[in-house]
Amino acid sequence: METVRETDTVILFDPEKGKKYFLNLSLTKGKFNTEKGEIDLSQLVGKPYGSAVKTHKGHTYLLLPSTLYEFIMFKLNRLTQIVYPKDAAYILLRLDVKPGDTVVESGIGSGALTAVFAQAVGEAGKVISYEKREEFIKNALSNLRKVGLDSRVEVKHRDISEGFDEEEEADALFLDVREPWLYLDKAYSALKPGRFLGILVPTANQVIETLKVLESMPFIDLEVSEILLRKYKTVPERFRPEDRMPAHTAYLIFARKIPEGNF
Ligand SMILES: C[S@@+](CC[C@H](N)C(=O)[O-])C[C@H]1O[C@@H](n2cnc3c(N)ncnc32)[C@H](O)[C@@H]1O
Repeated sequence: METVRETDTVILFDPEKGKKYFLNLSLTKGKFNTEKGEIDLSQLVGKPYGSAVKTHKGHTYLLLPSTLYEFIMFKLNRLTQIVYPKDAAYILLRLDVKPGDTVVESGIGSGALTAVFAQAVGEAGKVISYEKREEFIKNALSNLRKVGLDSRVEVKHRDISEGFDEEEEADALFLDVREPWLYLDKAYSALKPGRFLGILVPTANQVIETLKVLESMPFIDLEVSEILLRKYKTVPERFRPEDRMPAHTAYLIFARKIPEGNF
């Protein structure tokens, strides 16, 4: 049975209102104020997930494990555009990110994709994130701390026009910057041969600029894709798509590095 540890990030779920509170138990101690009264957080550790806990006024909340999806969608503090879960999930597989890997990315933005990479590389892996704006670094690290993933992330406060550090041999490299085509030579140098570069851009113009440079470089397996996610109303009597859906988030570009001069 999975029980709550003192380093867990948990959800307190109000079954009447559907409201969720997210709490990182390493950061929040003592009594927590819900809108229905106080909960003593020290009583949560050791309880099985799914347990009912009561406020001092006798109202019930359910104790649930928090998921990264929920954190990114509902709790992450956004100062920039973020990579959405539908795109992040595909990026993980296309870059073949695994436990123990070193992933290099730029920029950190609000840390949404960084958190997804950090969860996937596990305790033995690391994410190295290059970001030129200090205020974004602070906010992203605060987001990562809330889900206990900050220790797997090394942030370099740098404009990638200065390059990635030479010692880095990335198992995967991801660019989410405005003009990725300017940095493809630097990304190529930082990546292990045979491994994948991923790029996210919101406009078709940026895709074209990127492809113009990529096709002249030792990359194979080029792909441009877009992920459309359609959600449905969960009412059995009137099962149908939701009325609105996000029409566009971004284009994704992938390419696999091969050594120079080998073809
Ligand atoms: C759209 S945000 C990234 C969002 C992030 N992937 C996420 O999921 O939260 C783009 C980030 O790239 C950074 N950036 C843009 N050009 C850069 C460069 N040349 N060097 C380093 N960071 C850069 C910006 O400051 C910004 O934080």
